Amino acid sequence: MNQAHFTDIPSVYSRILDKSKEIGFTMPSDLFIGSLLKTLISSRQKANVLELGTGIGLSLAWMVDGLDKDSVLTSIDNDPELTKIANGFFGEDPRLSILCEDGENWINNYSGPQFDLIFADAWPGKYSQIDEILSLVKVGGLYIVDDMNFQENWPIGHAEKAENLIKYLEKREDFNLTKMNWSTGVILMTKIK
Ligand SMILES: C[S@@+](CC[C@H](N)C(=O)[O-])C[C@H]1O[C@@H](n2cnc3c(N)ncnc32)[C@H](O)[C@@H]1O
Repeated sequence: MNQAHFTDIPSVYSRILDKSKEIGFTMPSDLFIGSLLKTLISSRQKANVLELGTGIGLSLAWMVDGLDKDSVLTSIDNDPELTKIANGFFGEDPRLSILCEDGENWINNYSGPQFDLIFADAWPGKYSQIDEILSLVKVGGLYIVDDMNFQENWPIGHAEKAENLIKYLEKREDFNLTKMNWSTGVILMTKIK
């Protein structure tokens, strides 16, 4: 099996990748996590999905491809240039809300329904506000983070933060958890109570 052979890369993906190179975006999500997110999201109907860290929209492209017609997806980033670009690629899709907002503020002020799936790819909802974000996952819903394996470009002290996050997530008795040494290091959790 060649896990790097992808047969269903989103049609908009190459244009986003070109834009990413053009503006020098250095934090793209990889194809593996994108593909996983699409597969997981498409297991749900009428799903309510959240992405923290829109970036330039690479993971979002996969996530959108996994949505059924009645599902909705909110994606948050605090960088106006990035949300403008992402809105340019996806803005016409009525299922999507791409918001330029600080993730921490957004989490603290959110009072809507819980989510079927949360992909936490920014600092808030991962290294801060972890209890708050986990409380926004439905029972039976999924919480996913990547970038959990050591990377050369991590600043000093980040490895310890990642280790502390893993230990904390492992202790949560209201979630089942799987750690995967795959992609950039993925943790996939399901809320069980
Ligand atoms: C790893 S990148 C996301 C990559 C994205 N998933 C993609 O595939 O293009 C992390 C993103 O988090 C955003 N970010 C950082 N701090 C944030 C905050 N406090 N609130 C919201 N977004 C934040 C950054 O602007 C960056 O785009």
